[in-house]
Amino acid sequence: MDYFHRMQTRMMQLKDKDGLIILSLETSCDETSAAILKNGREILSNIISSQIDLHKVYGGVVPEIASRKHVEMINHVIEDALHKANVSLQAVDAIAVTYGPGLVGALLIGVSLAKALAFALDIPLIGVHHIEGHISANYIAHPTLQPPFISLIVSGGHTQIIHVKDYGVYQLIGQSRDDAAGEAYDKIARTLGLGYPGGPVIDQMAQKGDPFRYNFPRVNLKDCPYDFSFSGLKTAVVNFLHNLQQKGEEFCVEDICASFQQAVVDVLVNKTIRSIKHTGASQLVLAGGVASNTALRKEMALACEENDVLLYFPPPILCTDNGAMIGCAGYYRLKQGRISTLRLNAVPYEPLVQIP
Ligand code: KG4
Ligand code: ZN
Repeated sequence: MDYFHRMQTRMMQLKDKDGLIILSLETSCDETSAAILKNGREILSNIISSQIDLHKVYGGVVPEIASRKHVEMINHVIEDALHKANVSLQAVDAIAVTYGPGLVGALLIGVSLAKALAFALDIPLIGVHHIEGHISANYIAHPTLQPPFISLIVSGGHTQIIHVKDYGVYQLIGQSRDDAAGEAYDKIARTLGLGYPGGPVIDQMAQKGDPFRYNFPRVNLKDCPYDFSFSGLKTAVVNFLHNLQQKGEEFCVEDICASFQQAVVDVLVNKTIRSIKHTGASQLVLAGGVASNTALRKEMALACEENDVLLYFPPPILCTDNGAMIGCAGYYRLKQGRISTLRLNAVPYEPLVQIP
């Protein structure tokens, strides 16, 4: 029997196993991470090696440097994850790995290693979509959370509203037509000379600024009430800054940060609440790096309270890219029999598969 057929039989045995151990890998961008999860929602270890300091000098992620660093770190990170969880490689029941979307060279490191390990250990391989991972971080943070719910995914690469109808059943409600929210944060921070990544530092500075000092655009796309556009806002802030600099006028960085952030948060809250009313959902789940944002959390909490909606978001460590969220998504894929063949490949762009 070949590997895949053997794994289909194995999967049937594993599906209901109590104490199921998953080793998961995440290398889609600038974090090398490995985690050990028990029964899908319990973290035994979640090791994250961040490359931020390497990319900082360039003002953003350099793909070649990212790939090289993943190669250097991945084995150490896996060893640390096993050691911290007190689990041997032989005790691992299945391997989950991010296959996309992301930087293809970076993804390949995790995918190649996961395939090699799955084959050598003769255990199932589970390819996981990165966005599905971000959403699943909430299952770990909130043990009783169950679909259906609306999820707002806000990261450096994505801004999407997804209706999660069941585990693994997704319907795209809206998404950004251009830049992701995190991308706008990073660009504005670069223009202001605040370094990379931009989100955390703008979040901090905005807390000391006046969010209503400058009125930056909130884009509403005609006929697409749930889609976003952040490139206009980004350009408006950049042009505004250049204008002030050319005229030699003084400006308050904190007020710029706060006003820019208010424009982002207004649009995110507005469209998300509208999509909740449209779908009749009663739960909202925030996911992705920007879900750490203080103002977004605060304003979304107020809007949810007004609309009788339960709000969930993960702690910051599970908002950022990490292996644990991939392991959790992998667990539910395994339960549904959605394991991968050894042909699994890294995919730079891919929508989250929609199962009607
Ligand atoms: O999800 P993530 O770690 O990686 C991607 O999959 O993209 O998100 C990274 C993004 C970056 O753009 C970063 O600036 C942003 O999340 N970010 C934040 C905050 N923390 C991270 N944006 C706003 N406020 C924050 N506190
Ligand atoms: Zn991410």
